[in-house]
Amino acid sequence: MLNDLKTQPQDKILMLMQMYRDDPRDQKIDLGVGVYRNADGVTPIMRTVKTAEKQLWEAETTKAYTGLTGDPAFGAALSSLILGDSVPADRVASAAEPGGTGAVRQALELVKMTAPEATIWLSDPTWPNHNSIVKYLGLKTRNYRYFDEATRGVDFEGMMADLAQVAPGDVLLLHGCCHNPTGANLNMTEWADVADALAKTGAFPLIDLAYQGFGDGLEADAAPTRLLASRLSEMLIAASCSKNFGIYRERTGLLIGIAPDAKTRDLTQANLAFLNRQNFSFPPDHGARLVTMILNDPGLRADWEAELEETRLGMLRLREQLADELRRATGSDRFGFIAAHRGMFSRIGASPEQVERLRTEHGIYMVGDSRLNIAGLNEKTVPILAQAIADVGV
Ligand code: LMR
Repeated sequence: MLNDLKTQPQDKILMLMQMYRDDPRDQKIDLGVGVYRNADGVTPIMRTVKTAEKQLWEAETTKAYTGLTGDPAFGAALSSLILGDSVPADRVASAAEPGGTGAVRQALELVKMTAPEATIWLSDPTWPNHNSIVKYLGLKTRNYRYFDEATRGVDFEGMMADLAQVAPGDVLLLHGCCHNPTGANLNMTEWADVADALAKTGAFPLIDLAYQGFGDGLEADAAPTRLLASRLSEMLIAASCSKNFGIYRERTGLLIGIAPDAKTRDLTQANLAFLNRQNFSFPPDHGARLVTMILNDPGLRADWEAELEETRLGMLRLREQLADELRRATGSDRFGFIAAHRGMFSRIGASPEQVERLRTEHGIYMVGDSRLNIAGLNEKTVPILAQAIADVGV
């Protein structure tokens, strides 16, 4: 039986991670996988996470199962961080999931259960695993225009023209903030137009929210999700705590289902529990518990917000420094978009050959579509990257 297995396509981001690890050069720079690194190149455990872990170690008395959708306190705390008071709590169902990817997967499974004929509309481009999971589940998919290669901003006209084609009941997957892989984002006026389009076509929004707090701040990054939640009767949100709590390997995510009324909310909640039971029974608890402790303790929360803000501002400074260094190295303003982009990533517009040369000649690793992870840089590596980009002629 196992002999009959087929070779599966390798995930490009994870493949790059391995190539970087295998590269013996000292001067290599990893701008591939979306993991935050501080100025010393390490991915630190946030100080509030460490404090919460110590408290948890003292206080935790059992490792018995939680509920199928995790501890309800986690769902309540994270839903509130994301949704604020944009929607009444009795319309909000939620389930803890293994990371943001787990939440995306369960969201799409839920769609498959209730609307197997729905087409999933993905931004062009999107996080490659969106395409992969949709395909794996056998769901239909189409792309909507998103990125304008010429301006390195959003092709908003193209996007709205495509959104008008979405059929009622089709699913529109949106990046709530910090678009991955491009770094180009909609402004709030444009988000209001998206909400109008969704209301008009009857399409169903699925928001992937993996970077809240990494773009313009915790509140600003949640604003598009809140706007849609306040305007539309139903939607799904797949949220990740990997980045904003730095707990990547703890696999901490939440799938939120906003229902039109309390009765449908209960039905949704029961279906989320059923789906978890089929796939893995109980979701991981450690990371979810830390997040709950941090969000519900005013002191820890204030310190977490401060640390997250330091991280965010650090990334913004790196963006500005990189845009300046590129101006100097290339004698042109064409990389100004890097300072305007938000989140961990920017797609810089290098060809696959140039990306390859950056890796082989300069030891600089970025994804083949020229997505670079800003949070993989530091003040010393920015000028090296800028010079290398100029050298390969991007
Ligand atoms: C990324 O896009 O690099 C991250 O979301 C990590 C991953 O799982 O791909």
